[in-house]
Amino acid sequence: MSEKAVLQFRGKTYELPVIVGTEGEIAIDVQSLRAQSGLITLDEGYANTGSCRSSITFIDGEKGILRYRGYPIEELAEHSNFVETAYLVIFGELPTAQQLADFRALLSEHEYLHEDLRHHFEGFPPNAHPMGTLSAMINAANSFQPVLLQPEDDARFMDSAARLMSKVRTIAAASYKKSVGQPMNYPRPDLPYVSNFLHMMFSRPNKPYEPDPDAVRALDLILTLHADHEQNCSTSTVRMVGSSQANMWASASAGVCALWGPLHGGANTAVVQMLEQIHQSGESVEQIIVKVKAKNSKMKLMGFGHRVYKNFDPRAKIIKKACDVVLEKLKRTDPLLDIAKKLEEAALNDSYFVERKLYPNVDFYSGIILRAIGIPVNMFTVIFAIGRMPGWIANWREVHLDPNSRIYRPRQIYTGPTLRSYVPMEQRGR
Ligand code: ACO
Repeated sequence: MSEKAVLQFRGKTYELPVIVGTEGEIAIDVQSLRAQSGLITLDEGYANTGSCRSSITFIDGEKGILRYRGYPIEELAEHSNFVETAYLVIFGELPTAQQLADFRALLSEHEYLHEDLRHHFEGFPPNAHPMGTLSAMINAANSFQPVLLQPEDDARFMDSAARLMSKVRTIAAASYKKSVGQPMNYPRPDLPYVSNFLHMMFSRPNKPYEPDPDAVRALDLILTLHADHEQNCSTSTVRMVGSSQANMWASASAGVCALWGPLHGGANTAVVQMLEQIHQSGESVEQIIVKVKAKNSKMKLMGFGHRVYKNFDPRAKIIKKACDVVLEKLKRTDPLLDIAKKLEEAALNDSYFVERKLYPNVDFYSGIILRAIGIPVNMFTVIFAIGRMPGWIANWREVHLDPNSRIYRPRQIYTGPTLRSYVPMEQRGR
């Protein structure tokens, strides 16, 4: 017999079904609550609210577990690569050799931007933030694509998903070129996904760039680790927009905007800015920790804390290890890495952080690797967006294929003025 949760309110008893996920997570199904009792649930910031059922990504924040379609992130980081992981996230299974080759071929086929679309970049000022440009250009690119009428048709959907994933990378590199006043590069069909991106970022007419295999592997790892992360702010945005049956490009464009903020994807930029500032000011990590902990302090330790992880973010563990390896392979040293390690150690031994279960998240060390590859700081969150595209695509499709899907439309508790009558202008005072 299925379990029920019992709610007592104003002398009446209500029974609510309990939903159990495949990993044993439990939820009270409140869909009939308002109709039965007049009550709604209030959960500001949605920390206790399941917004959907999803079969894409599993996180256990207490144990520090992250799995895409059942596969642990540690195994994917070690054995897979971004394009294969993207296929897994989007289509649910690891591809066969042929499926992977077909998907890669589609990514190459769709890497070009329509020439008219390339002219759109000219409208942005040179100091435009690449995240704003990326979001606007994804929407603009949508006008140049065939409309995806049947997301349930696997072949059509795969073509559409490959278009979005591939063009986002070209748009991202072009937005960087625009910001530094260099000509945009055409993609090279002989290069795979990540190398091609680095070529479009760094080749110049007078200085061809041959992607360094170590830089390619490092960026591939970063993208793989970002491929999905269940119902975070940007993915929930993509699902919310998609739930109105807006198309995949419009939904992804909204996802980019949600990701931009420093409490979400923008944290990778904020971390490096924070570390640079500590480096330049010569402040000790102890002084920083004191400032962060000060009563009424607005300062946060960027790259620390997470809504779901109350233990190590498994992605941060992988990236931290990779930092040392990548810097050594690329023959770089970075004083910011030492500061980051010292900050981490100080925070993990400080009762403020211990009591609040604040651990380094994915953004704490990723910027160090991106800097070592030569990616400018204002492009860090764009890299995150490229990496997260498979997750957004998979979540958008899940919304569309779910026969029970309804438009996302939360309720509220109104706290404004109660009924009052219109006051004519002459009676309103000065
Ligand atoms: N530095 C200092 N204190 C912190 C930090 C931090 N980074 N994060 C949380 N806290 C404190 C809060 O002030 C609060 O303290 P209080 O109980 O005394 O009021 C307590 O820890 C709980 O924090 P909340 O803000 O309630 O946590 P929430 O789940 O709402 O926010 C978030 C999570 C946004 C990630 C937060 O930890 C944060 O702002 N971190 C810094 C920004 C960051 O790194 N964002 C990237 C997240 S990962 C990602 O999106 C890819």
